[in-house]
Amino acid sequence: MCGIAGYLGPKPADSVLIVALERLKYRGYDSAGLAVMSDGEIHLRRAAGKLKQLSDLIEAQPVDGHCGIAHTRWATHGAPTEINCHPHLASGGPYDGRIAVVHNGIIENHEQLRRELTQAGAIFRSETDTEVIPQLIAHHYRGDALAAVRAAVARLEGSFAFAVVFADHPRRIVAVRQGSPLLVGKGRAYDAGEPAAEGSTASFAKAGRTSVREMLLASDVPALLPHAHQVCFLADGQIADLTDQGLALSDFAGQPVEAEFKAIEVTAEAVSKGSFDSFMAKEIAEQPAVLARLLDSRLRGGALVEPDLGLDLASVNHVVFLAAGTSWHAALLGKRFLEQLARIHVEVDISSEYRYRNPVASGNTLVVAISQSGETADTLAGLRLARAKFIPVVGLVNTVTSTIARESNGVMPLLAGPEIGVASTKAYTAQVLALYLFALQVARAKGLLDAAAEAQAVAAARALPELAATTLASAEEPVEEAADIFAAAQATVFLGRGGEHPTALEGALKLKELAYVHAVGYPAGEFKHGPIALVTSHLPVICLCPRDALYEKMLSNLQEVRARAGRVIAVGQGGDRALRDLSDHLFPVARAGEDLLQPLLSVLPLQRYAYHVARRRNCDVDQPRNLAKSVTVE
Ligand code: M6R
Repeated sequence: MCGIAGYLGPKPADSVLIVALERLKYRGYDSAGLAVMSDGEIHLRRAAGKLKQLSDLIEAQPVDGHCGIAHTRWATHGAPTEINCHPHLASGGPYDGRIAVVHNGIIENHEQLRRELTQAGAIFRSETDTEVIPQLIAHHYRGDALAAVRAAVARLEGSFAFAVVFADHPRRIVAVRQGSPLLVGKGRAYDAGEPAAEGSTASFAKAGRTSVREMLLASDVPALLPHAHQVCFLADGQIADLTDQGLALSDFAGQPVEAEFKAIEVTAEAVSKGSFDSFMAKEIAEQPAVLARLLDSRLRGGALVEPDLGLDLASVNHVVFLAAGTSWHAALLGKRFLEQLARIHVEVDISSEYRYRNPVASGNTLVVAISQSGETADTLAGLRLARAKFIPVVGLVNTVTSTIARESNGVMPLLAGPEIGVASTKAYTAQVLALYLFALQVARAKGLLDAAAEAQAVAAARALPELAATTLASAEEPVEEAADIFAAAQATVFLGRGGEHPTALEGALKLKELAYVHAVGYPAGEFKHGPIALVTSHLPVICLCPRDALYEKMLSNLQEVRARAGRVIAVGQGGDRALRDLSDHLFPVARAGEDLLQPLLSVLPLQRYAYHVARRRNCDVDQPRNLAKSVTVE
């Protein structure tokens, strides 16, 4: 989704903002732009397409200034053209070209506002909903920037975050949060005349300041790096007034609010690719270390360390998982874990469905909101609906500073580190492991886990990092061979039973989103009820066949595919001769010490398969077309 950045400080704003946009582009974008204040004017640079187009434009037409706002746009209203790129300007009235806005979210009443403002003399130049914001601010502006923003916000409906600059206030950025994430970063203070790392402090010296504070604004923490050391997360209904003296925070009624800054813990290295060709490759490779980190935080010796969720887990008898996409696949496994280990009734809901039905709340229900980003709009809306019904919510999130984490009663962190590739990989396996540990915790609270069973479960979990590393290494060659052969296939089917059904869904989603191959995952027992009609000698069918209780059933499915000349890729144990003989290709996977955990290993070669097929089809694995990393609008 759209990304916002802002900078105010001694360095050249265009260079700082381009780096910030680089760090936001993982969210998904199709055009980008910035506005920099210079010589009492607002200078726009905007370009459709990749960020490189914008950098080239700035190189050809540099703009010298120390305060500006910038944006990566993921088109909703209007095609990804230069005219629809942000920033958008007020146009047609006395403040023509003198107020610029970047925005994330959707203004639901934009058509009504557009009609009113046009009648009042505003001239609209784009097809976006965003353009009503600078026009509305200009309509209310009488020299007081904050008063104009407050008056405009009172008319806006929807979910949004935006930043605005005024030509009349060359060292000021005003920003608003109402439903979409927005963060203020604090950099260091500079004495007037002190040289900044890049650029100069000349403009500040001119302004007669003795010292200036470097301030930043962004939709996400990585975009504040490396300049900011502290971050303040705006809450809904807050307005941030950034000047070179710091941040003043107020609510929509103008009442001052105390700003709380925290140290930024993410490092610049954690958000770089390192020696890998893509974030996706790096994040897949990180999985053994991610699993080990999560286990270290949750286990002491042979026993579980229980995070304090502030809940009486023993009394919970109904759990509802809320999630979207890959997180929903993890939730399907969470259901199996909780049912088998803690013997409680579990529902798994797609967030966008849950939020629009009227779910039944019983006294002992617990909602678990699963989200890598912690910002997915539908999951957040589901969480709020649950809380409005007085249902406690636990957030299973990777981004612990996210809105879902802040609004949950208790938080289970994934500790996977920043996930930048649009396709979720390391967050998925961390979610699966965290859900397994959560199920053990509930089982223990209910007296269903004796010491021997706990020690056995813990030992199986402890072995996972090494088994994941072995699997990634041993599957690589066969995965590449299969990708060479099937990269041009127009469709792929994934079959799995039990815990491998979610793996089949996840393998299919990875292939769809990364390689643009039509792919579907089925519970293998359902295959005969229709989808088997798809099988031809051109169709690769990926069969998940670990040596678990349903192994023989899977072999029958595999035979059915072979009997119809389908091309079988099996995922199973490397030493399984029978499986090797029955399949065209075998992706070897280590055997987990506990059947429930096997899907966490089976998914690894499927991630690599999607990666390799995507590369062979010349697809951008980090930023697949049309997709956004955090889906912060409906
Ligand atoms: O941040 P979340 O886990 O809430 O995101 C949910 C989905 O948008 C996400 O998993 C999506 O399906 C990924 N692109 C899958 O790789």
